[in-house]
Amino acid sequence: MKTIRLKTQSRTYEIKTGNKLLDSLGRFLKSPCFGQDAYIITNAALKRRYGARLGSALQSAGYSARFFLIPDSETSKSLNIASSVIKDLAAYDKNKRIFIVAFGGGVIGDVAGFIASIYKRGIPFIQIPTTLLAQVDSSIGGKTGVDLEAGKNLIGTFYQPALVLSDVQLLKSLDKRQLRSGLAEVIKYAAIMDAGLFRYLEKNIHRILESDLKAIEYVVGKCAGLKARIVQQDEKEQKGIRTILNFGHTIGHAIEAACCYKRYSHGEAIALGMLVSSDLSYKLGMLGKKAVQRIEKLIIKAGLPVKLNKVNPQSIIRAHYRDKKFIGRKNRFVLLSDIGRCKVRQNISLKAIRESLKKIL
Ligand SMILES: NC(=O)c1ccc[n+]([C@@H]2O[C@H](COP(=O)([O-])OP(=O)(O)OC[C@H]3O[C@@H](n4cnc5c(N)ncnc54)[C@H](O)[C@@H]3O)[C@@H](O)[C@H]2O)c1
Repeated sequence: MKTIRLKTQSRTYEIKTGNKLLDSLGRFLKSPCFGQDAYIITNAALKRRYGARLGSALQSAGYSARFFLIPDSETSKSLNIASSVIKDLAAYDKNKRIFIVAFGGGVIGDVAGFIASIYKRGIPFIQIPTTLLAQVDSSIGGKTGVDLEAGKNLIGTFYQPALVLSDVQLLKSLDKRQLRSGLAEVIKYAAIMDAGLFRYLEKNIHRILESDLKAIEYVVGKCAGLKARIVQQDEKEQKGIRTILNFGHTIGHAIEAACCYKRYSHGEAIALGMLVSSDLSYKLGMLGKKAVQRIEKLIIKAGLPVKLNKVNPQSIIRAHYRDKKFIGRKNRFVLLSDIGRCKVRQNISLKAIRESLKKIL
């Protein structure tokens, strides 16, 4: 097991990564900032699969456990769902010693964290992420949120969990498409921050795709450490440091939006976005051709898409203007200067973006 201590201005907490941690959950809850009544937000499929183990891990450590199930879909990230959870939570909160357990992927983590941050102006919550994407990314760093029709994550807070427990054994039941989607974020960390991790992936990505838990444990621990390092320096994305985690996201988000969040998973869209950003980096003279080819090869090895299917590039350009990270009328791209090194650039010309979009058409 690996323990990473994440120290931010608002809270210091531990991220535990490893294999077979769920049954020992009680052992990690000894801090006085937790309550006694665990309110678990999850979905029906995850409860069927892991609910009994999670419940008994809590009960055997002296905690009460209540489950609240939300639909298994991005639509759960809504004010309506948050409001129905809060009503039930308030009814259950008789002894005033409640804490929330977010048990699921990024959707559950985001909405559960949001609820924890606004109920009684904030109660403790812990993240037990169950997808690769959530273990390497969304459970760490305190971004919570729900979607509006006008866009994803438009309502949200920064609210750090009291603990993140990433048990890679939970990923055994994840389907291959979800595993690949999480791998896109792993490739992202390697490309922007860690050339050694990139080389590791080039040699071992097949092991991850075969659900080899040793290899997965290694990358989850590595990526959690990298994310913690960034969040520690720039908790609320105010210093331009956390921005680098958006490598591939400017175009990735635009692809998701242009396809109404249906055709491509988040990770698949990010993979396509990383290809465009690498090509842009090359065309702007920042990155060598060989590095661009290595990135493309790794994305192919991960089984992620490298070409867009029947999407009008103009709809991507239009969607990229709506990115909430736009500053004034200036777009913002994270570009690479080498494998493992990146720079944030603003105001990239439309002509250059159109040229690099050709890479994935
Ligand atoms: N807060 C952040 O910093 C941050 C960062 C990146 C993404 N996100 C958000 O994360 C969300 C995407 O998260 P995601 O990719 O984890 O998707 P998700 O939460 O929708 O989970 C994907 C699917 O996997 C299933 N699943 C989860 N765990 C499983 C398991 N162990 N075994 C079998 N099936 C399992 C889920 O039920 C779901 O059907 C988006 O809403 C995105 O906006 C947030």
